[in-house]
Formats: sequence, C-alpha cells, structure tokens
Amino acid sequence: VVSFILAAIGGYLLGSVPFGLVLVRAAGLGDIRQIGSGNIGATNVLRTGRKDLALATLLLDALKAGIALVLARWIAGAAGVPETTAYQIGLVAGAAAFIGHCYPVWLGFKGGKGIATFFGVLFAGPWPLGVIAGVTWLAVATIWRYSSLGSLCAALVAPIAAAVAGFGWEEVAFTGVLGLLIFWRHRSNIMRLRAGTEPRIGDKKEEPP
Ligand code: G3P
Repeated sequence: VVSFILAAIGGYLLGSVPFGLVLVRAAGLGDIRQIGSGNIGATNVLRTGRKDLALATLLLDALKAGIALVLARWIAGAAGVPETTAYQIGLVAGAAAFIGHCYPVWLGFKGGKGIATFFGVLFAGPWPLGVIAGVTWLAVATIWRYSSLGSLCAALVAPIAAAVAGFGWEEVAFTGVLGLLIFWRHRSNIMRLRAGTEPRIGDKKEEPP
C-alpha cells in the first residue's frame, strides 16, 4: 500500500510539470493559457506557429508519464516487489502523472487534457495499445484535421481494444478510467465540434470562443 501511495505522489509531481507552458514562456511567446484554446498541450502550442515547440511539448509530456511508469516499476522491482505488483504500481504512477498533468497544483489545478501523457504511459507499458491509440489519432487527425476528435477517438478505442484483445483488468481499467477523464477534459472541444466551430489543425486564424 505504501508503495502505491509513493508511486502516486511521485507520478503526480512528475506529471504536473507543464512543459507546454514552460517552453512557450522560455521562447518569449507569452502565456500559452492566453493563446488559442488556452490549453497547455502540444496542439495549442502548435497555434503559436512553432512546430518545434509543439513537438517538444508532445514528447516531453509523453516522456514524463512514461518515465513515471518505468521508474516506479523499476524501483518496486528493485525493492523485491513481485513483477505483477510492480507493473500495477507503475500503472498507478502513470495514471497519477496523467492526473498531475490535467490538474497541476502549480497552476491552480488547471492543466491539460491528458492525451500526450496517456500515450506516454501506454507506450511505456502496454505498448500495443499505444500503437492502436496512436494510429487512431493519426488517422482521424489526418482525415478530419481535428486534433481533439483524434484524441477523443483514441480515448474511446484504447479501452475497447484492451478488452477485445484480451489484456488484463489493469489495462482495461486504466484505459477506461483515463479515457473517461479525457472526454471530461475535452468538454469545450466536444461543444465546439458539435457547433462546427472547432479549429482544424493548420488553420491560420484559430480563436475558439
Ligand atoms: O489533446 C489536446 C487536443 O485534443 C485538443 O487541444 O488545444 O485544441 O483544446 P486543444
């Protein structure tokens, strides 16, 4: 129990580092929360016009969550915890990193929408689910050019794939709960998608209401 709690605290702290905000500010481009959708994620960083910063945000946000899982799993394993439990501890650390990204204490609990951290945990753990979710995002984003729609479809497909492909209850629960949270964090995007006002990837002027 202590290991699970420690993993959750460590994962939360790692996940709460807002790379999008830090990188945009360091580049002298102001506060990302005042730009586009106001989100701190890679999609919104792209709206500053800096593809390099957007890619760095995506990778760093994914990495922090992946590292949370790998590190927690490794520490638990080194402490003599059985492999199955160590893996569960890793998943808890990854989920905590996701929560830290979405609700960071440093930003008054107003954080991102969790997609990059979700991918990070999947690729560091049950990676075939990461591939399936990633391909889903890419396909949807390429066809319809809505990043948010790609994220929502990936969040829907991951738990279905976990259940259908015979993954364990850990993966089904992990992708199911985080998938629901991703939908919750995309409330404003869902409203804009329904209203037809969601900005598309690459749009020049993107001022969602
Ligand atoms: O994962 C974030 C993306 O799905 C939506 O971002 O900035 O368009 O709200 P944004």
